[in-house]
Amino acid sequence: MYYRLNPQCKLVSGALRGAIYDFRSGRVYSISSSALKLLSQLQEHQLADVVDAEDRLTMDYLDKLSSQGLGAIFITPPSKDSTNNTNTNEKQLDFLWLEITSSCNNRCLHCYASCTSQPSDNSVSHEQWLSVITQAKQLGASAIQLIGGEPMLYPRWQELVLKAVHEQFEFIEIFTNGTLIKPEHIKFFAENHVSIATTIYADNAEIHDLVTQNPGSFQKTLDAINMLTIARIPLRIASIIMKQNESQIQNIMELCYRVGVEVNMPDVVRPTGRGANTSIVPEHYKKAPISPPFFTDEESFNLAQQYHSCFAGRAAITTQGDVIPCIFAREKVCGNIKQHSLAEIVAANSPLQQCWHTTKDCLTKCKDCEFRYACTDCRPLAQSMSETGDWLACTAGCSYNPYTGKWEESE
Ligand SMILES: C[S@@+](CC[C@H](N)C(=O)[O-])C[C@H]1O[C@@H](n2cnc3c(N)ncnc32)[C@H](O)[C@@H]1O
Ligand code: SF4
Ligand code: SF4
Ligand code: SF4
Repeated sequence: MYYRLNPQCKLVSGALRGAIYDFRSGRVYSISSSALKLLSQLQEHQLADVVDAEDRLTMDYLDKLSSQGLGAIFITPPSKDSTNNTNTNEKQLDFLWLEITSSCNNRCLHCYASCTSQPSDNSVSHEQWLSVITQAKQLGASAIQLIGGEPMLYPRWQELVLKAVHEQFEFIEIFTNGTLIKPEHIKFFAENHVSIATTIYADNAEIHDLVTQNPGSFQKTLDAINMLTIARIPLRIASIIMKQNESQIQNIMELCYRVGVEVNMPDVVRPTGRGANTSIVPEHYKKAPISPPFFTDEESFNLAQQYHSCFAGRAAITTQGDVIPCIFAREKVCGNIKQHSLAEIVAANSPLQQCWHTTKDCLTKCKDCEFRYACTDCRPLAQSMSETGDWLACTAGCSYNPYTGKWEESE
């Protein structure tokens, strides 16, 4: 007789304990080191070779797993697991951020790109941006975002949108502070199926304008939100919390609800660019710490063994042409589009591909954790929170110790 895990379940070992990933329910079950050892042996050997039939404790444990549908007894050896497919197809470029300008009419206290009204030197030329859009499409990208700085300060932003339309991008988004949106732009967005993302920091001018350091910006952004919602332009509203607007979390969510835009919990300021200024760190509002329960599905489980949960298939291009894996990873330059084609920059084994392949198996501590294929990751945040600035540091704020199997005191 044989005892095997359900083919829809996967056993993952940590340094001490283990976990059963159940793709049917999506749950990840933590198991003790002895259960891990037992189940590992049972996947290779006959039941009688591993468990003494008189050992009621172990047989009861296996019965319990069976009653949950996690495993079963077989008379003949079940065929070897064929679903253990870690050969996910090679990821291609899918989503591109284009930071078309580093200038901005706001001067937000927290801006990760440290934007000011000054244009930057050595910027990518208009022809290069047009070419990048075509190259990205040829490489398989289907989604593009124009961002900045304030992208609507880039004089020929509409031509870039038209180029993306011409190249048949499925999703075109402009991430704008909204202050420059005029009625004629609404028509342009509608005609070209452009989605908009914008940001509010409060439900009132006093606090919003304190964050943006631009008097009158709240009213302009709110007017833009109203025009966009009336015209039914797809719109999402982001919000970032820092000390100056910590009182506004509920108000912001209520404002989103009132204007009919999906309500999301605001994010916490990240310590990048001007956001690294410690005087803007919120006193109480914190990112929820990593903690169980973890959830999974087969596709993300397979992907997590080969790719970073967030970077895979994505790239951001800065005003200077630097290619970085995401807009917050400012230092992680993987090439420059003024020197190389996008195809060269995303080629196999390139620095960008190495970023895409930064799985949790590469990270300090996480590599020994049994939850590593279900736990998400933000590399730029982990790096900025690491005392040594380590790119491969464990996720910030995780209190799990895979060597003792214990969740230690959260900060
Ligand atoms: C850099 S802005 C560019 C688009 C546009 N200018 C705007 O502000 O909406 C994109 C988003 O990044 C957010 N952001 C900027 N600095 C940040 C930081 N240090 N931490 C978290 N989010 C930040 C902004 O609040 C905004 O929602
Ligand atoms: S966060 Fe956006 S609006 Fe604020 S300064 Fe940066 S680019 Fe400008
Ligand atoms: S952050 Fe790393 S150590 Fe913590 S639970 Fe996730 S994978 Fe495990
Ligand atoms: S890696 Fe972090 S900062 Fe970058 S896109 Fe993902 S969650 Fe955002």
